Amino acid sequence: MHILGIESSCDETAVAILRADHGCRGQLLADLVASQVSVHARFGGVVPEIASREHLRVLPSLVEQALQQADVQWRDVDRIAVTNGPGLMGALLVGVSYARAAGFIHGIPVMPIHHMEGHLLAPGLSEAGLPEFPFICLLVSGGHTMLVRVDGVGKYRIIGRTVDDAAGECFDKCARLLQCGYPGGPEIARLAQAGDAQRFSLPRPMLNRDNLDFSFSGLKTAVMYALRKHPQPDDALKQDMAAAIEASIGDVLVKKSIRACVREQVPRLVIAGGVAANRYLRQRLQDEARRQNITLALPGLRYCTDNAAMIAYAAQRRLQAGYQDVQDWDASPRSQLGGMA
Ligand code: KG4
Ligand code: ZN
Repeated sequence: MHILGIESSCDETAVAILRADHGCRGQLLADLVASQVSVHARFGGVVPEIASREHLRVLPSLVEQALQQADVQWRDVDRIAVTNGPGLMGALLVGVSYARAAGFIHGIPVMPIHHMEGHLLAPGLSEAGLPEFPFICLLVSGGHTMLVRVDGVGKYRIIGRTVDDAAGECFDKCARLLQCGYPGGPEIARLAQAGDAQRFSLPRPMLNRDNLDFSFSGLKTAVMYALRKHPQPDDALKQDMAAAIEASIGDVLVKKSIRACVREQVPRLVIAGGVAANRYLRQRLQDEARRQNITLALPGLRYCTDNAAMIAYAAQRRLQAGYQDVQDWDASPRSQLGGMA
């Protein structure tokens, strides 16, 4: 069975073709991502209208390119899997409308996939695969930060979430304060490599609260106040501040994830979403998980940030788990992970 995956929820247009098998991995025959980063960079963030237009410009040829690369004809495609939310409405509509039109023309059923479910299952694309159920997933992207108890495909219970900014959003906002590029996470990570995390003492928001929730907006404010004392920050200061930001966010994410595993008595942890590409966070999690006898699954770096392989893969896992094709659905910019069927 061939699944064509389409992702257009934010600023990456992505198309993948997965040959699904009976096992839990499948084979990726094509996996293309056309990033819009350079288009949005001069605005310091994603401009929704420009994102939609770029998806519209790029998507049809990217699909043709993927089919060619995979050596697959439309008649060999058995399912089209498309991100239908959450994300930017206009951007989502481009992917959804394209998928529906192609499905109609070629007689192929179209499956809506929740973007965060794509992220959550993406570690299954790596060699080691997903751990057995149940496991805890730390989902950290530009728009979401949550801890999810996963009891099976489609069986998700959110046990912790951010009460304000997402971790990725915090990276991006702090990067703006430091006057470095967009997206902020990779920039902060790059600067942090040469920085001294001890120079600035930043808060660890919500760490001492006895729950699994997060809050990152105070951290951004703390960075803003600290930078007021240095109106013209030099490179060394930016590096030290970046290291302190990375350490603060990392510390909270690691400790709350471990707390979630202990509380749920589930010694298996998965991390997913764009922020999961952060090397410092990955290392800290690996160290802590080893200390606590927790099995840790990390997606490959390519499958942390937005891609369509994870969308096709989520469709494969849903089909294997026996979910039927849904009839009544639409682009849904605010859909909740926990509310899925
Ligand atoms: O999952 P993703 O690609 O898109 C959303 O679904 O939001 O996540 C994007 C977020 C951005 O906030 C970006 O700054 C962050 O992930 N990010 C990182 C790194 N790479 C991407 N944050 C920290 N370190 C990184 N290496
Ligand atoms: Zn994402």
